[in-house]
Amino acid sequence: MIVAIDGPSGSGKSSVAREVARRCGLTYLDTGAMYRSVAFACLERGVDPEDDAATADVARAISIEFLASEGGQRVLADGQDVTAQIRTPEVERAVSPVSANPAVREAMVAEQRRFGASGDVIAEGRDIGTVVFPNADVKVFLSASPEARARRRAVQRGGGDLARGVDAAVDPAAERAVLDDLVRRDAYDSSRAASPLRAADDAHRIDSSELSFEEVVQAVIALSPELGARAEKGQR
Ligand code: DC
Repeated sequence: MIVAIDGPSGSGKSSVAREVARRCGLTYLDTGAMYRSVAFACLERGVDPEDDAATADVARAISIEFLASEGGQRVLADGQDVTAQIRTPEVERAVSPVSANPAVREAMVAEQRRFGASGDVIAEGRDIGTVVFPNADVKVFLSASPEARARRRAVQRGGGDLARGVDAAVDPAAERAVLDDLVRRDAYDSSRAASPLRAADDAHRIDSSELSFEEVVQAVIALSPELGARAEKGQR
């Protein structure tokens, strides 16, 4: 089965997709990590992320793998573990132009479909239900208010995790900066010509602003009898 989860940055897609994967015995595919890996490879090779032809060459040549490990999934790009490096502010800046490049998207979407053909997958990104897997069994569009998303990200950076009920002290100026960055990225992701962020017509919309992590996970599983049965089987 294929489950597609799309939504803006900070909506909780990754944590929710990872948890539904664990409970329902699905393989988790983090497509954002793939675009980030291409952006990282460009920076490492001195390729300008705005140079469409050169970044497309990097995307076509790169080999991205996901490895399950005790501390969570690791991301390998051409055999190098880039799990931490793809989360830096430099990569964050470079990934917007890289992911707006249609030739890069074409290469990544082909890889994602190969991954999906290999079994039961829950994929998370911006265009999963609209472009990558338009025939997905379950489609979710997960959103939250910009303020709720900024708060979660800021707490995360302060060492907490609201999804797990762990709060952390947050500097209001830092939270404001996170909010500004989120709003800028939303505008970029939603207005680009190539696969802009939007909900598929047949996606179930979940607004997580006022929901706990567990409530969102439950809401996703409740969308499909197959997911419900898998979750129940996993608990036995
Ligand atoms: O979900 P994320 O923050 O890791 O995504 C990183 C970037 O990649 C973000 O700018 C949006 C882009 N992206 C995309 O264009 N399409 C996807 N399917 C996944 C991510």
